[in-house]
This record gives sequence, C-alpha cells and structure tokens, in this order.
Amino acid sequence: MRSFFALVSVSLASLAMQASASCIYGTTLHRRQTDVPVSSYTFGGTTGPINWAGLKPEYRECALGHNQSPINFNQSIPFATEIPQINIPSTSFAEFLNIGSTVQVFINGTTMFGGKTYHLIQYHFHTPSEHRIENEYYPLEMHMVHEADDGAHVVVGVLFQLSDFGLTTDFVRQTIVNIDGIREPGTRNVTGYLDFSELVEAFQSAPIYQYTGSLTTPPCTEGITFLTLAYPMVLDVASYNLLKSVMKFNARYIQNAPGEQNLLQISAREISEL
Ligand SMILES: *[C@@H]1O[C@H](CO)[C@@H](O)[C@H](O)[C@H]1NC(C)=O
Ligand SMILES: *[C@@H]1O[C@H](CO)[C@@H](O)[C@H](O)[C@H]1NC(C)=O
Ligand SMILES: *[C@@H]1O[C@H](CO)[C@@H](O)[C@H](O)[C@H]1NC(C)=O
Ligand SMILES: [Zn+2]
Repeated sequence: MRSFFALVSVSLASLAMQASASCIYGTTLHRRQTDVPVSSYTFGGTTGPINWAGLKPEYRECALGHNQSPINFNQSIPFATEIPQINIPSTSFAEFLNIGSTVQVFINGTTMFGGKTYHLIQYHFHTPSEHRIENEYYPLEMHMVHEADDGAHVVVGVLFQLSDFGLTTDFVRQTIVNIDGIREPGTRNVTGYLDFSELVEAFQSAPIYQYTGSLTTPPCTEGITFLTLAYPMVLDVASYNLLKSVMKFNARYIQNAPGEQNLLQISAREISEL
C-alpha cells in the first residue's frame, strides 16, 4: 500500500513539473519559457491520441470536440477565396528546439488574412503528415502557428512529397542543419540561414484549403483557422530521414468531418452496446 502511494505521488510530482509542450508552444495559450518544455503526452499507447482526453481535464476537447483536426481534405473542404499575404523576413539563424512532441523553430513574420494581421510565432513538423488529401498521406507536414492581437489563431500548413529528382525546399534543409544537436527532448540549438521566398511564392499560386479546426495536439483547442497548401512542396530523402529519426511518429489520426460528432464519442457509444 505504501509503495502504491509513493508511486502515485512521484508520478503526480513529475507531471506537475512537466509543462505540456504542444503545437501551440510560444503563443498566449502556452507562453514561452526559459527552459525548453517537454510534452507529457505521446503518439501511442495509453498516453497517445486515443486517451489524450483522459490525461488531464484540460484535454477533454480532444474527445468531445466536433471540429477537431487533422482531417482528410476532399471536395467538401473549400479553397480559400483570398490569398493569405505571408511576410517572413529571412534570418541568419533562429532558435531550434526539441519539445518532445515535435521539433520547432521560433520565427518572426506576419500573415494578413480576412482583414486581420496574424503574427507568426513558430513553425514545427509532423511525420507522417497529419492532414490527407483525398485520403493520401504525405511524408511530412509543417505547421506555421500564428496569433492575432485578439487571440485568434491561424495555422499555415504545408505537406511535403519526396522528390524523384533529389530536389528539396531549401528552408527545410536549412532548418535542420544542426538537428543532431537536438536529438534529446528538452534541448535547443540553432537553424542555418532561412529564406522563405519559395513558401511565399507557393501560396501565391496554388489553391489553399481553408477550414476551422483544432490544435492537433492537447489541449485540442478549437476555433483554429487552417490554411493548407493543396499541393505538396518537395523534400529530399536525407532531410526526411533525419527529421523522422529525431521526431519519431508524431501525427494524430484523422478526425471526423468538421461539425460531425467526435469519433471517440461514437466509438464509446458503440462499444458500450457490445
Ligand atoms: C468528404 O468526406 C466526408 C467525411 O468522410 C463525407 O461526409 C463527404 O461526403 C465527402 N465529400 C465528398 C465530396 O466526397
Ligand atoms: C524575433 O523578434 C524578437 C523580438 O524583436 C527578437 O528578439 C528575435 O531575435 C527575432 N527572431 C528572429 C528569428 O529573427
Ligand atoms: C549545435 O549542434 C551542433 C551539432 O550539429 C553542435 O556541434 C553544436 O555544439 C550545437 N550548438 C549548441 C549551441 O548547442
Ligand atoms: Zn502541429
């Protein structure tokens, strides 16, 4: 009995000390801190997406929300009728962190969309992609997390496809030049020189899926506008393998269509009838 209580209090203490880093780290939902935070949830088993809502009361939206992300993009998901105006100054380097659930870069920039200015705070990656296009997944997805002064969030998303010709997107390759320095969660290093003109050009010319969803990691907060490029950008095999070796699997399963009941609620009801 005593050892049981000792075990419980130790694990509660370690949970309390761990700030739960997520896809929203650095915004007002989870303010930037001096130490690199490490997430307490995972992408498999009892701390994985099936049970995120069971980990903390603040995560209940993960199992109850009706507008959760990621989703499968099909013809029911509209294209944005306006081109987001993305402006990201190039920079000689930026801070590069391993927060356990992903690797992330703190960066400055703005996106103007719907008459509002959103401040770019960070970008991070998921492998494989979280969103799918007509049920096809991609090897990598990037999320550029923006916040407006009124607290509204936009995630600018890009899927990446491996190039048959050894081509790549330069800012991804430059982002990870020091990835060997952040193999351990909770560590930091710096990127190489970053220039986002390829990304800005891609958003000028390709269709962009627009929908309102959620953070794809706990606390699964809803009301997030996703603007996802409908065509993948290219990635070289070596960069993909490096990112994958550090991030491991970090993609949530696709959720029900926007507005439909949460898949976990549907599952719980059907299992209770077995
Ligand atoms: C898109 O997917 C949703 C969810 O599976 C489905 O309800 C809808 O009918 C699909 N739309 C098209 C045009 O296939
Ligand atoms: C972003 O802006 C902040 C505040 O001006 C500055 O301290 C930081 O170095 C900038 N980051 C980059 C990557 O330029
Ligand atoms: C960054 O990582 C490189 C390895 O890629 C390492 O040599 C360097 O010492 C690291 N720098 C910092 C500040 O951790
Ligand atoms: Zn993300």
